[in-house]
Amino acid sequence: MTEKDFIPSKYQELKEQGQVSYTSPSNIALVKYWGKKENQIPANPSISFTLEACATTTSLKYKKRAGDNSDFSFDLLFQGEPKPSFKPKIEQFFKRVISYLPFLTQYHLIIETSNSFPHSSGIASSASGMSALALCLMELEKEFVPTMTSELFVQKASFLSRLGSGSACRSIEGDLVQWGKHKNIEGSTDLYGIKYPYEVHPIFKNYHDTILLVDKGEKQVSSTVGHDLMHGHPFAEQRFSQAHKNLENLKVIFKEGNLKEFIKIVESEALTLHAMMMTSQPYFILMKPNTLEIINKIWDFREKSKTNVCFTLDAGANVHVLYPEVEKAEVFQFIQDELVAYCQNQQYICDRIGFGAKKLSVK
Ligand code: DP6
Repeated sequence: MTEKDFIPSKYQELKEQGQVSYTSPSNIALVKYWGKKENQIPANPSISFTLEACATTTSLKYKKRAGDNSDFSFDLLFQGEPKPSFKPKIEQFFKRVISYLPFLTQYHLIIETSNSFPHSSGIASSASGMSALALCLMELEKEFVPTMTSELFVQKASFLSRLGSGSACRSIEGDLVQWGKHKNIEGSTDLYGIKYPYEVHPIFKNYHDTILLVDKGEKQVSSTVGHDLMHGHPFAEQRFSQAHKNLENLKVIFKEGNLKEFIKIVESEALTLHAMMMTSQPYFILMKPNTLEIINKIWDFREKSKTNVCFTLDAGANVHVLYPEVEKAEVFQFIQDELVAYCQNQQYICDRIGFGAKKLSVK
C-alpha cells in the first residue's frame, strides 16, 4: 500500500445526516517511537501492547452543509463540556487528512468525546482520542463506499490515526501491534500499524499493566517537541538502529516466552527513551523522584521474589508495571504494599492487554 491507495475514488452519494460511535484504547510501547520525519513517518519501528481499560469513547454526529465549502465546521465536547483548547489539534488533523477524506468539508460535525481514565492523570490521551476519531470518520466513509473491505477499513483507520498522533495508529487492533518498516517483519510499513504477524507464546496473552500515577501535572515538554529534538541529536542514529535490533530480538523472545530477555529489552527501551530526552539540546527530564523510587523497588522485589515484574515508561513520570497473569496475585500485593505510596493521591489504574477498538451502537 502507498499513500495514494488511501485516496478514495468518487463517492456515490453523501448521506444527509447520522451518527457513529467508537471506543478506542490507549497502548503502551515496548519498543518506543521517538523521532519522526515529515508527514508523521517514524524514524524507527515500534511495537506495543494494546490496552483495555484506558480508552476514549467518541461519538460523531454529522449533518450535510449547504453549498460548496472549503473550510471545516465542527463543535467539540469533552466530557460533556465544550473544549475550545482541543480544537486546534483537531483542525490540524483535518487538514492532514482532507485529501484522504474529501467529504470532510461537506459536513458540520459534532464530536463528543470522553476518557475512561481520570482527566489530567498524566496519561496521554492522544493515542486513544485520535484513533477513536479516525474510526468514526472511517465509519462515515464506509457509508458512502459500502463495498469497502474490512482490511482496507482497518488499515486506513490506522493510517489516519497516525496522521493525528503517531502512536495512535497502534490502537485500532490488538493485542500486539507493530508500526514502522522493519526488514524482517513481513507487511510492516511506516504508514500504519499491523497486528504482529508471528507466533506469540501464551505467557504474553493476559499480560497486566498497572499504571502508577506518579505525577498528574501537565508535562513540561510535549511528545511532539521531544520527537523534534531527535533531529540532529548526537545519539539519534545509534538509537534508531538499536530499535531495529530490539525488534529483531523480540521475535525469538515472543515465540519462546523468554521473560528474562523480554524484561531486558523493555526496561532498556524505557530508559533509553528518557536518556534521549536527557541528552537532547535543550535537555529535559520527565521522570520525578518517585519514578526512580518505584523503579528501584521493582528491581529489589524482582530479585527477592524471582517474579518477572518489570516496568516501562512513556513520555512522562508515570510508571507502567508489567507482569504476566500467573504472577498477578503476588505482584499486585507488592504494588499495593510498596508502590502505591509513591503515587500522587495513591492513584493507579489496573489495565491489561486488550484487543483493540470497538464500534458502539447508537440510539
Ligand atoms: C513516548 O504518538 O504522542 O509514547 O506523533 O507527535 O503525536 P506524536 O507523538 P506521540 O508519541 C508517543 C511517544 C511515546 C512512545 C511510543 O508510544 O511509542
